[in-house]
Amino acid sequence: MVEWTDKERSTVRAVWGKINVDEIGPQALARVLIVYPWTQRYFGSFGDVSNAAAILGNSKVAEHGKVVLKALEKAVKNIDNIKGVYADLSQFHCEKLYVDPDNFRLLADCLTIAVACKIGSALSPQVQATWQKFLSAVVEAMSSRYF
Ligand code: HEM
Repeated sequence: MVEWTDKERSTVRAVWGKINVDEIGPQALARVLIVYPWTQRYFGSFGDVSNAAAILGNSKVAEHGKVVLKALEKAVKNIDNIKGVYADLSQFHCEKLYVDPDNFRLLADCLTIAVACKIGSALSPQVQATWQKFLSAVVEAMSSRYF
């Protein structure tokens, strides 16, 4: 299990407090689809996601970005049980959606970039180190039912 210091806990909460789910969620998911176009194949039911303009204007992508970030909030609030929080979601992505788990890392990186664009210098290297630790725990938990 990942151990967290009080400072790390408060840092994760502080970063989360600066994020507007409805803004950053759509941005992060759109980035994944644009930067890593092979991920578009998972979203065939969302309509046109074939190019950047279509992705940025796709309301289903935007809505789903919010859904993903709301799921992330559960990890922020249950930082000592991230694996438990994502057990069912991991199984769902593995057995029903067939999402390659490498993509969880890509989403995490796009999320960090979207956060950096938003909060700028508040994402200092030290803060980023903790934020990355948090997202690594999320990625590990989302991958847990694959093995
Ligand atoms: C931190 C990583 C992720 C989290 C927390 C997350 C969270 C979620 C949640 C909460 C749902 C809705 C589940 C439901 O309807 O019961 C979902 C669905 C879905 N996710 Fe993820 N997800 C993650 C990463 C990814 C990645 C990387 C991909 C693909 C590149 C992906 C593809 C999908 C697809 C295709 C659906 C179904 C969408 C639909 O048809 O409505 N997810 N995800």
